[in-house]
Amino acid sequence: NGSIKNAQDYAQDLFAHLAVCQQHQAPIKAVQEHAEEIDLDFLSEDLPKLFESMQGAIGRIRGISTSLRTFSRADTKQKVSASLNEGLESTLLILKYRLKANEQRPAIQVTKDYGNLPEIDCFPGQLNQVFMNILANAIDVFDEATQDATFEDLKAHPQVITIQTEVVKNAIEIRIRDNGKGMPETVRAKIFDHLFTTKAVGKGTGLGMAIARQVVTEKHGGHLDVQSELGQGTEFYIRLPLAATDENDLSPGQNQGF
Ligand SMILES: Nc1ncnc2c1ncn2[C@@H]1O[C@H](COP(=O)(O)OP(=O)(O)OP(=O)(O)O)[C@@H](O)[C@H]1O
Ligand SMILES: [Mg+2]
Repeated sequence: NGSIKNAQDYAQDLFAHLAVCQQHQAPIKAVQEHAEEIDLDFLSEDLPKLFESMQGAIGRIRGISTSLRTFSRADTKQKVSASLNEGLESTLLILKYRLKANEQRPAIQVTKDYGNLPEIDCFPGQLNQVFMNILANAIDVFDEATQDATFEDLKAHPQVITIQTEVVKNAIEIRIRDNGKGMPETVRAKIFDHLFTTKAVGKGTGLGMAIARQVVTEKHGGHLDVQSELGQGTEFYIRLPLAATDENDLSPGQNQGF
């Protein structure tokens, strides 16, 4: 990054030097011609812009690399204290390219409503994987919807993912909602089963939600559930106790493990 700044300064100096030459020397024909050939005017205008966009790109790469590091933060044998809002953010950043507009649909809108959460002791990498699996499913649904809806339809009825986090009693609650096609009860009932998928061979393995529930309940003593209404959308609900001991399942009533 520092070297781009230097190159920028050098280029500026060279252009300033050229300007001085042009002012104080009768233009030599060959020089004039060459300047036209390389379109010196355009070049001197464009090069600084180019440097700026390089600087911007480096900023973005730095952002991605930071969030990749946060995202994949190695899970040691022990839990570490981590912010779930940050985990959600780094997951979103990794999915950014899938959320972007493409030829079939406008960008997927993400509405965030983050509560002021304390850090909790957890396996952040695994929880990020849970967020990723849930968000990826929502994006899959939105991508699929492009088969029945035109770009204009989708522009008029935007595809939205809503993420909410808050502290409720002694737990953190995370809700991830999409306004996609939803699912019938027959699918909803099996969604956390191993290898259950409605996707084409090669598109889904049917492990995403099974793994998510395992991570939330078995590794974090939490609770993961889903509500869905056909044609309205789907909401995943995660509850993680603020202070839990390992293997301590605080979910109400039935045992959620498999
Ligand atoms: N947000 C959602 N809206 C509608 N249906 C969903 C949603 N999330 C999951 N499903 C349904 O639940 C099924 C199981 O999801 P799961 O993530 O476990 O597997 P998958 O996405 O099919 O495959 P993968 O292992 O690649 O994640 C999906 O095939 C899909 O039918
Ligand atoms: Mg999935």
